[in-house]
Amino acid sequence: MSTWTIRLAERRDVNELMGIEHAQFPEPWTKNMLLEEITNEETRRYTVAVMKDTIIGYLGVMFVFDELHVNTLGTLPGFEGRGVATSLLVDAWRDARERGVVRATLEVAASNQRAQELYFRLGFQPVGIRKNYYEKSHEDALVLWADIEPDEDPARPVRPTLDS
Ligand SMILES: CC(C)(COP(=O)(O)OP(=O)(O)OC[C@H]1O[C@@H](n2cnc3c(N)ncnc32)[C@H](O)[C@@H]1OP(=O)(O)O)[C@@H](O)C(=O)NCCC(=O)NCCS
Repeated sequence: MSTWTIRLAERRDVNELMGIEHAQFPEPWTKNMLLEEITNEETRRYTVAVMKDTIIGYLGVMFVFDELHVNTLGTLPGFEGRGVATSLLVDAWRDARERGVVRATLEVAASNQRAQELYFRLGFQPVGIRKNYYEKSHEDALVLWADIEPDEDPARPVRPTLDS
């Protein structure tokens, strides 16, 4: 079975990433936005999962003091359900622990069940709702929060429900 490796994203990846961005997000970022993110080494960390020279997933996180914020996460259509997104998040957790980061936050569309399941499995819990978060759809976003314990296993199965 083919597998993938994870490396830091580079400027040259931007066109491939735009392909995933347009395929997977109803409100895709522009190329310039993505380039600015990838090249901001001060507060961002963008990683890509690469299989046979093809980028099959990417994750962008931002550091704010001792917090990691997930800015974006996407898997190439046709490569979902294989653990690509999970592996990118596990890699980010490892790096975050080394930086002394203690928690992670993110916003996810209220209707995005697939992503929510993934995040809940990794220990995220819902802590609030941002009304009309998405510019075009006006959909609400759930705010999710996870503690990053120094010795935590990020693949530990945790599935809190919305009313837990
Ligand atoms: C959400 C998204 C990033 C998930 O990516 P993914 O690579 O499919 O995620 P994973 O494979 O790591 O995990 C997804 C599921 O596949 C399952 N899975 C993992 N490895 C698997 C394998 N080898 N075989 C079958 N299923 C597997 C996982 O158990 C997980 O199930 P769960 O969600 O019920 O817990 C992807 O669907 C996507 O790009 N969506 C559009 C963009 C988006 O919504 N991004 C998030 C914005 S907040």
